[in-house]
Amino acid sequence: MASVDVPQANIGVVGLAVMGSNLARNLASREGNTVAVFNRTAAKTDELVAEHPEAGFIATKSYQEFADRLSTPRTAIIMVQAGRGTDAVIDELVKVFEPGDIIVDGGNANFRDTIAREKRISETGIHFVGTGISGGEEGALNGPSIMPGGSDESWQTLGPIFRSIAAVAEGEPCVTHIGHDGAGHFVKMVHNGIEYADMQLIAEGYDLIRRGTGKSPAEIADVFDEWNRGELESYLIEITAQVLRQVDAATGKPLVDVILDQAGAKGTGAWTVQNALDLGVPVSGIAEAVFARSLSSKPGQRAVAQKVLPGPSDRWTIESPEDFIEDVRQALYASKVIAYSQGFDEIIAGAEEFGWDIDKGDIAKIWRGGCIIRARFLNRITDAYAADPDLTSLVTAPFFVDVVTAAQGPWRRVVSMAAHAGVPAPAFASSLAYYDGLRADRLPAALIQGQRDFFGAHTYKRVDKDGIFHTLWSGDRSEVESEGSSH
Ligand SMILES: NC(=O)c1ccc[n+]([C@@H]2O[C@H](COP(=O)([O-])OP(=O)(O)OC[C@H]3O[C@@H](n4cnc5c(N)ncnc54)[C@H](OP(=O)(O)O)[C@@H]3O)[C@@H](O)[C@H]2O)c1
Repeated sequence: MASVDVPQANIGVVGLAVMGSNLARNLASREGNTVAVFNRTAAKTDELVAEHPEAGFIATKSYQEFADRLSTPRTAIIMVQAGRGTDAVIDELVKVFEPGDIIVDGGNANFRDTIAREKRISETGIHFVGTGISGGEEGALNGPSIMPGGSDESWQTLGPIFRSIAAVAEGEPCVTHIGHDGAGHFVKMVHNGIEYADMQLIAEGYDLIRRGTGKSPAEIADVFDEWNRGELESYLIEITAQVLRQVDAATGKPLVDVILDQAGAKGTGAWTVQNALDLGVPVSGIAEAVFARSLSSKPGQRAVAQKVLPGPSDRWTIESPEDFIEDVRQALYASKVIAYSQGFDEIIAGAEEFGWDIDKGDIAKIWRGGCIIRARFLNRITDAYAADPDLTSLVTAPFFVDVVTAAQGPWRRVVSMAAHAGVPAPAFASSLAYYDGLRADRLPAALIQGQRDFFGAHTYKRVDKDGIFHTLWSGDRSEVESEGSSH
């Protein structure tokens, strides 16, 4: 039990790998906080405490000691390997915590696990708060974007703590109570999905410019620096320039040319797509970004295909490199708008499905600082939802209509040029195809309904009258009205 004669901490962190130790240091640096720390392997705790005496950490060597050194109600943030690691820590904390205490999972948990964990843990009277934390190790240390779920009651305690450590954008801390139970981890998942799309679009833009104009990575870094001074200004554009400018010390070549071209993934992009499929939301830009990483990581298939599959026979010539680069910039901007529009569609669908009251404008606001997808144009998303909270599709907001209107020529030229040249640009192409699908006055879905009715009697609706219909395809091909519902 808590003893009064030893110093107590108002917050604790379990898991002291890169994220946990940086978050603990961030917490400790804020006025009024004393931070208790615990790690399964005690050597890591000792190392952190020895390296950062300024933090005044309370080092603990067992879960019981950790609980004893926290003032009540206890608040602990878990930053361990998502999945089994999280469950193992929760099981231990539940044994030593009491009703009213708060356990925060700040790892990249699957939101469905978060919902299940909250249900299970709330039976003990302990609050469980799944919280998305974005910004990598630098964000954890200096100010991340924080996406907490959990109960309103736990938010009362956590709100001031999170506000004190979050990134600040235009004077506002990048944290808001997203919604109950798994809402925070759901929104963090979609954030990561958008991050995949954004990265893929930037990579495709770089590839097209390099192949089309023959510019070197360092010269393309200058292009990205220039873009970062305009409407595309964002963390990802900024770091892209830095990566492209980096020279490999061992070979003297651009680093990007010596890095193996097989992109890794930790799974949150795939979750975004899997859940979008379940929710029936087309997040095609995000899906293409996930698939592009999968394709890149199939060296065996790629090696064989490279030898036997032909490309276009024409040589690709760019008449004006400057014009082409501007086309790519506009295509990138328009495709990025689509990726966000699709991501917000998934958030809206998730909120409906799981009963979360999510403020879309607030989400764009808390992504303006700390997180990987921080970007100038997020303010425009907040504005769009402020002007019309029931906006059916982000891309149809007036500001974004202007963006895609301006990009019509460039976007189509870039996608068709990529196809002509045989340069893969799946995220550009799928974003444009989605855009054209969304705005089409009539889709060939009508034909699909006809096919479905033909082979499976799945029925169809008509444009000119109510009801459900079926054509007697294997009979006299007359139409009958169906009793059941169409499916
Ligand atoms: N890295 C990033 O940029 C980033 C960004 C956002 C979110 N996240 C999320 O933040 C969390 C932490 O990430 P990380 O990169 O710092 O660490 P990590 O490599 O994902 O996990 C290592 C930590 O988990 C602990 N751990 C693993 N299994 C455990 C168990 N069964 N019981 C107790 N502790 C266990 C380890 O303890 P030992 O030292 O004893 O092995 C260590 O402290 C993850 O969920 C990650 O997905 C990471």
